[in-house]
Amino acid sequence: MAFTIAIDGPAAAGKGTVSKAVAAHFGFAHLDTGLLYRAVGAKVLAGVEPVEAAKSLLAQDLERNDLRAPEVAQAASKVAALGEVRAALVDFQRAFARRSGGAVLDGRDIGTVICPDAEAKIFVTASAEVRAERRYLEDVSKGHETSREAVLADVKERDARDMERAEAPLKPAADAVVIDTSTLSIEEAIAQAIAAIEARHKA
Ligand code: CDP
Repeated sequence: MAFTIAIDGPAAAGKGTVSKAVAAHFGFAHLDTGLLYRAVGAKVLAGVEPVEAAKSLLAQDLERNDLRAPEVAQAASKVAALGEVRAALVDFQRAFARRSGGAVLDGRDIGTVICPDAEAKIFVTASAEVRAERRYLEDVSKGHETSREAVLADVKERDARDMERAEAPLKPAADAVVIDTSTLSIEEAIAQAIAAIEARHKA
């Protein structure tokens, strides 16, 4: 049985945490599609041309331990605006989405472009300030040197680039359930996502 759950949203909204928990709850496989763009961004920082980097992406490129660094996130959002880079990553994502046993994919355009027919779609969001504070604490815990101001500026810059780009801009699919996690605990956000998916599944 194939069953696709699309989870989209802006930077640091909690997509990753919600997606992992949803996948564990339903026993589905999980793909963090942001890692694909981060891996391409990391290769570009190392001097590879963006489209070549996307076309030659290997599974081991997703295991680099520097992919969560703030400069890699910025490079990712720059390469993610290129149509040819996005096109090179479509087939892999769609094949993952339709694997038997069910799949959760999180990203920016899963419900709108990659899997418009996904059985369930969630859009996880939160205010820029709340998202920046969460990412700041995450960055500091990972040993990245940064400041609250720098993280907020990074989040706002990436959001603007992700929402304003011509190719697969960040926006909720018309049939997505929007969950604003600004005032929710992690447990509440996960519970709302699972309830929304179960409601959709029964419909
Ligand atoms: O973890 P965070 O939400 O900060 O970022 P991410 O999901 O790892 O994505 C990094 C960047 O990749 C984003 O800023 C987007 O520009 C891009 N991306 C995208 O364009 N499409 C996706 N499906 C996933 C990520």
